[in-house]
Amino acid sequence: MNRKVTIVGGAGNVGATVARAIAEKELADVVVIDIADQKAAGIALDIYETCPILGSDSRLIGGGTWEAAAGSDIVVVTSGKPRKPGMSRDDLVKDNFAIMQSIAPKLVEHCPNAIVIPVANPLDAMSQALFRLTKFPRERIIGMAGVLDSARMSTFVAMELNVSVENVHSFVLGGHGDTMVPLPRYSTVAGVPLTELLSKERIDAICKRTADGGAEITKLVGTSAWYAPGQAAAEMCEAILKDKKKILPCSVFLQGEYGVRDLFVGVPVKLGARGMEQIIEITLRPEEDAALKKSAAAVKELVDIIGM
Ligand code: LAC
Repeated sequence: MNRKVTIVGGAGNVGATVARAIAEKELADVVVIDIADQKAAGIALDIYETCPILGSDSRLIGGGTWEAAAGSDIVVVTSGKPRKPGMSRDDLVKDNFAIMQSIAPKLVEHCPNAIVIPVANPLDAMSQALFRLTKFPRERIIGMAGVLDSARMSTFVAMELNVSVENVHSFVLGGHGDTMVPLPRYSTVAGVPLTELLSKERIDAICKRTADGGAEITKLVGTSAWYAPGQAAAEMCEAILKDKKKILPCSVFLQGEYGVRDLFVGVPVKLGARGMEQIIEITLRPEEDAALKKSAAAVKELVDIIGM
């Protein structure tokens, strides 16, 4: 295997899920880095030992050393404190910013050409932090949020209509927080807009459950979700490694697109070998645009707290 993905914070639940998903699909070799270096070594070995069963020749290396990360195509940054029940993603901003400050110089030193997928919360602000601190071009810092939020929305739509999740395509814009913007008009079931299939009340309930999706899991499990967030990051890795040109909602640094400037916010982008290859601008109705601007303002508040 000549492709390499490094997972920073890979001994945590989300990181380990990303590593496992990449190995399962034999997308790349995986380097698992974590301050808990012994645990990282164990998790990498445990996942490596699934490969003979899976028939995957991904090789996994785990431990504390960044040297192994050199030459990575992608670095997924899952390090950070998770949410506890009752906490908002925003409550983590200062603690996780300090963690991003410790990771950024290592990224620059060991992986100067990698595409970076931030996963830590609050997602958009942490993406902005890594962008400012590494000074990597915006095409190579692509935050994971929209794939997760859309997957949650699709799950709820499939449950509601009792249809295959494969028929559902959901669209969520904005920051990865309480102000995220699910777009029912652009969400479809077998190509039919959701607005043709469900009442406004049912759609509103699905949108609210989507925005509260992270908190719902945190309350049930006692800590942040990991299976869906990890799978979502792995999907982004696959699109990049295979140069699929896949359009996925991701948090990227907007420079006037959607009327937002100098801020990471979730929008549809094309993912390929060069990272974020295009921002897809769709027409929003005034109320949708207002919701996106409100969400961007919420991200801006966090970015201002950390001075990024
Ligand atoms: C969630 C956390 C990971 O949405 O942000 O589950």
